[in-house]
Amino acid sequence: MSGDSMNALILKAEQWILPELNSIFDSEESEDIMVKAGQYSLFAGGKRLRPLIMMLTSAMMNLPQGLDSDVKYFAATLEMLHTYSLIHDDLPGLDDDDLRRGKPTCHKVYGEGIAILAGDMLLNKAMERLLSICEKKPGYIYTASAMAENAGVSGMLGGQSIDLASEGKEITMDLLVKLQEKKTGAFIEAAVVTPYYLSKNMTRKEALEDENAKDLRDLASHIGLAFQIKDDILDVTSDSSVLGKSTGKDARDSKATFVTLLGLGGAKEKLGEEIVMIKEILAKLSDKGFDTNDYLTLTDFLVNRDR
Ligand code: IPE
Ligand code: IPE
Ligand code: MG
Ligand code: MG
Ligand code: MG
Repeated sequence: MSGDSMNALILKAEQWILPELNSIFDSEESEDIMVKAGQYSLFAGGKRLRPLIMMLTSAMMNLPQGLDSDVKYFAATLEMLHTYSLIHDDLPGLDDDDLRRGKPTCHKVYGEGIAILAGDMLLNKAMERLLSICEKKPGYIYTASAMAENAGVSGMLGGQSIDLASEGKEITMDLLVKLQEKKTGAFIEAAVVTPYYLSKNMTRKEALEDENAKDLRDLASHIGLAFQIKDDILDVTSDSSVLGKSTGKDARDSKATFVTLLGLGGAKEKLGEEIVMIKEILAKLSDKGFDTNDYLTLTDFLVNRDR
């Protein structure tokens, strides 16, 4: 799939993941209002960036075609966790946002209580899926645990907690990077490494020691950072009709972001530094014989995206 433009990659990822997302709930479950609310957000659009990244890793690492359905299963599970994080992030008690993925937020349509339950339901269903596939394929247990950890205190939730606690405060760059690495970086890491871990039935020890796994985590960490720096920039520079979510809200809520800490120019400079790091790691992977072309397309998107 080398040489595709980013739009083509996004389309491909969407076509790849939608049938899997459609198969998650049976017709009886779909009658439940909480499930309807979860599906509303799950199918509201979105770039499907994490599934796309899983496709990119599978292609770059030349993973067997036979692994595709399991990668897709994990990709849909991660997209459920991501969507749950967005539903809760938008709640009045957190960022209090009205617009997401170009549509009114879940709680605006279904009310706050149902939106809380819809998020909980997506989280629980994701965990059911992780346990269920490990029942059939015990070799996946570490990969599944790692994804669960990426959603928890050492991952997304830990980042959200620091994010909320930092509102209205001046925080250090070290803390901001830690906040971001958890809040956004953890799910990006899950996307980058999961296909490779699955392909090797990796244990925790193997994942820590494997040289390619280390390179992939290094790559993920800089992609995650670049992605959130750009998210912070777009909150200031973009238009909500293009972005699909409201803008100017980080300043409104006195959020600690790369823009509030470094200014717009400083944030752009830091984004540029992260891109250099990403390209260095990709060059290293390319030297090892891996096809990094589509990852390079993603790298350009991290700088130039408008949504
Ligand atoms: C938004 O993520 C939340 C952040 C981690 C910054 P995305 O920008 O990937 O959101 P969707 O999935 O496209 O809506
Ligand atoms: C939230 O970060 C990332 C999540 C874990 C949901 P933001 O609060 O900056 O995300 P947006 O800007 O609302 O998408
Ligand atoms: Mg937030
Ligand atoms: Mg938010
Ligand atoms: Mg944001």
